Amino acid sequence: MSLTATLKSEKFLLATRQLLIDNQWVSPASGKTFEVLNPASEEVVAKVSQAGAEDVDLAVQAARRAFADGSDWRCMSASDRGKLMWKLADLIEQNLEEFAELESLDNGKPISVARVADVPLAVDLFRYMAGWATKIEGNTIPISVPGAEYFSYTLREPVGVVAQIIPWNFPLLMAAWKLGPALATGCTVILKPAEQTPLSALRLGELILEAGFPKGVVNILTGFGETGAALAAHSDVDKVAFTGSTEVGRLIVKAAGESNLKKVTLELGGKSPNIVFADADLKAAAAGAANAIFFNHGQCCCAGSRLYIHKSVFDQVLEGVVERAGRIRMGPGLDPKTQMGPLVSREQLDRVCGFLDSGKSEGARAAAGGARHGDKGYFVQPTVLVDTKPTMKVIQEEIFGPVVAAMPFDDPEDIARVANDHVYGLAAAVWTRDVSKAHKMARALRAGNVWVNCYNIFDAALPFGGYKQSGWGREMGHQALELYTETKAVTLQL
Ligand code: NAI
Ligand code: MG
Repeated sequence: MSLTATLKSEKFLLATRQLLIDNQWVSPASGKTFEVLNPASEEVVAKVSQAGAEDVDLAVQAARRAFADGSDWRCMSASDRGKLMWKLADLIEQNLEEFAELESLDNGKPISVARVADVPLAVDLFRYMAGWATKIEGNTIPISVPGAEYFSYTLREPVGVVAQIIPWNFPLLMAAWKLGPALATGCTVILKPAEQTPLSALRLGELILEAGFPKGVVNILTGFGETGAALAAHSDVDKVAFTGSTEVGRLIVKAAGESNLKKVTLELGGKSPNIVFADADLKAAAAGAANAIFFNHGQCCCAGSRLYIHKSVFDQVLEGVVERAGRIRMGPGLDPKTQMGPLVSREQLDRVCGFLDSGKSEGARAAAGGARHGDKGYFVQPTVLVDTKPTMKVIQEEIFGPVVAAMPFDDPEDIARVANDHVYGLAAAVWTRDVSKAHKMARALRAGNVWVNCYNIFDAALPFGGYKQSGWGREMGHQALELYTETKAVTLQL
């Protein structure tokens, strides 16, 4: 019996999945499809459509019609928009188990994690943003122009047709982070999931139809980088929101500049410092440091990959992290006992193993792990590197795998400078019992998210995003909504 025959998603996986354009499931103009692999077994689990430039055009046209004056979407009250989003959240929740299964099959992550993290966080995000639909407000502004009386106010209007290009590390959740603020503000969307993990976005498309969103409000195109590139270069797209590599982020900025100067928001790489002071609860810090890097197999843009430990407690904290790394149970995501699954793809396996080789050749040593795990599936051992130098590639670049570099530090007054000495600034964490030190460090660290005595705490209400080369703009929280609205200043002479 095949694996899929025992799954809730069996029916969904058997049919070749099409593109969602204007509320219709359609085949791509080219007729091309591609295969989706289970990264634990390297077996094909589904076949999906490959959108080309023609399909991109059709989807943009559908989104433009849905955004036109007088369309069902534009005429819908904010309250009804919120209700639709809430209904979508309910539908995702009702299908939680199927979504968890799809995420595990597609991305490799443990189903036990997808059940309690990816899917419920996506549900929460839609509910949080549904509440905002009725709260997109302008202001009245007193102005001081002499000679007459005026009344001025602002309107906050949806930015328009938005292309959203997302990665494979949290496929459903990244779709939710992007769709939530766009729908709450009344934009229309073309969503492009990552080629490695298109399944949950397509299942979400079915629920978007079931919820009753008007035609063309959400269009979903599966495909590779060239599909994303066509969206970023399209002159009738008003904004592109991207999460992924810094390299592609730069290409998107370029494409926007060379076409219609569409708005751009970016959520890119990270190399987040995690700082353990001598006065910390060391047991909690070791557990937190392990979670910071091993959660989602290190495939998190905010992974705590640079672990700075005060030299007086270095051995003790290191031992705690190494011990936890050794205890992690690896296996296929669908096995309920699995704590860490494979990396998402052969490409990422080769990339991460390349970093391990580079670290070793430059003189780093693996205190735990340090190699591929097994020879089937894209598994990498949870790895703790020591004896690194700041100039090494493993410290300079984002690895995006379960690999942390543990480094002792001497001067607590200087550690913020050391932590900030990087091109990225997405997240940072501090472990200390000293309240004053905690708040001082929170101010000193140049990062969009700072965690104190915790790591990887996310909430739909908390803005998330990066300083420096980690990106432009924020996701979640009310900050995300600003980036999906234009502000219009209106002035009347009284
Ligand atoms: P990527 O940036 O190539 O892919 C992300 C998304 O961008 C996918 O949907 C992809 O199809 C699309 N894309 C690719 N080329 C494009 C182009 N020219 N124009 C528009 N869209 C394009 O990331 P990839 O290759 O999967 O991973 C490489 C590295 O990127 C990882 O090792 C990691 O360091 C980083 N990354 C960071 C993520 C984050 O959450 N910030 C997520 C995924 C990857
Ligand atoms: Mg790429």
